[in-house]
Amino acid sequence: MKILTVVGARPQFIKAAALSRVLRKEGGVQEILLHTGQHYDVNMSEIFFEQMDIPQPDYNLEIAGMGHGAMTGRMLEKIEEVLLEEKPNRVLVYGDTNSTLAAGLAAAKLQIPVAHVEAGLRSYNMAMPEEINRILVDRLSDKLFCPTDTAVQNLEKEGFVFFDQIEIIQSGDIMQDAALYYSPRAKQPEFFSGSVSLDEPFLLVTLHRAENTDDPSRLKDIWQALLALSEDIPCLFPIHPRTRKKFEEIGVDLSDYSRGDTGLFLVPPVGYLEMVYLLQRCVLVMTDSGGLQKEAFFFRKPCVTLRDETEWVELIDQGVNCLAGSKKETIIDSVSKMSKKEIVDEGNLYGGGKAAHCIVEALLA
Ligand code: UD1
Ligand code: UDP
Repeated sequence: MKILTVVGARPQFIKAAALSRVLRKEGGVQEILLHTGQHYDVNMSEIFFEQMDIPQPDYNLEIAGMGHGAMTGRMLEKIEEVLLEEKPNRVLVYGDTNSTLAAGLAAAKLQIPVAHVEAGLRSYNMAMPEEINRILVDRLSDKLFCPTDTAVQNLEKEGFVFFDQIEIIQSGDIMQDAALYYSPRAKQPEFFSGSVSLDEPFLLVTLHRAENTDDPSRLKDIWQALLALSEDIPCLFPIHPRTRKKFEEIGVDLSDYSRGDTGLFLVPPVGYLEMVYLLQRCVLVMTDSGGLQKEAFFFRKPCVTLRDETEWVELIDQGVNCLAGSKKETIIDSVSKMSKKEIVDEGNLYGGGKAAHCIVEALLA
């Protein structure tokens, strides 16, 4: 069987790392890897291929940094060309980025079956580009790999069970496979030789979601919350390139917070192995990332989510994550409340690291 996998953004490299290994070695599948180029900095792309042993992409379209329409449209055109050339039996896509949508659409129009890993997630907020992408890609796919029971129920509510020739499979979450497989290889980030100690308590922060970065009022509020929190506990913030640009646009001078001599410490994005090292050691995670919300839980750390809703509702139900939005006081109160939490994994929310095998089995069936 020949499967063409499309990746483009950081979380997709991490998901592909966990699945491609099983797909190729145990499934015996001929996998063609196409990188759209959506993420392109060394520490947003190449570093993951190197340290997670992901095979080099067979194609890199180098399409990045445009508006949604231009980016998705150019990817659609180029992916179609590759599909016509390679004639795969199936296309495999991950998550909800513009790369996911372009690949799903290109394949469906050529009547090549699409498998969607991370199907069924919903925020019910159509202002999110990701919500638009994931709903459309679910509808274009015939094998829908849901990471949670809630994701399965979301598809059922939307009537997917009545569509012909589709399979909804509760596979568990491929990111838990990645966390379990790579955590023994956790690596200390190189920039920690100076004044910042990772043996003392610290908060781990990430931020990149459009609803926060593209709204100056939300971005300023979050910044104020970080400044206030960092007076009491160091806040380590590997900053996404999008967020760096947006802070610069609203006139925040980040250079004062990039030397490691302030409570709030901004560093460039780190590799996955470094991120695991930080997750193992931090006190609490503050984030608007989808992936980080679950990783906080995998590493038994409470999470404060800087959003008004989440797709990972089971973490809220369990009380291990809380939605703090962007208001300074709510964020500070949430951190204070959540940092006292003992995190225990009593259930089996995300499949326990068996997603890759489940997905490969269903792909080969
Ligand atoms: C994208 C996804 C988002 C996902 C995130 C993961 C969409 C619509 N959004 O958001 O769902 O959560 O990736 O991180 O697909 N940039 C760089 N260097 C890079 C990558 C990006 O400078 O290596 C810049 C781009 O030039 C652009 C900005 O960051 O100006 C945003 O990049 P883009 O890929 O459009 O969206 P993300 O915010 O990364
Ligand atoms: N991540 C990383 N380095 C960083 C920030 C994040 O390796 O500096 C990892 C993180 O551990 C998780 C994934 O990137 O596995 C999440 O990606 P991101 O937050 O960019 O996207 P999302 O999950 O929100 O789509």
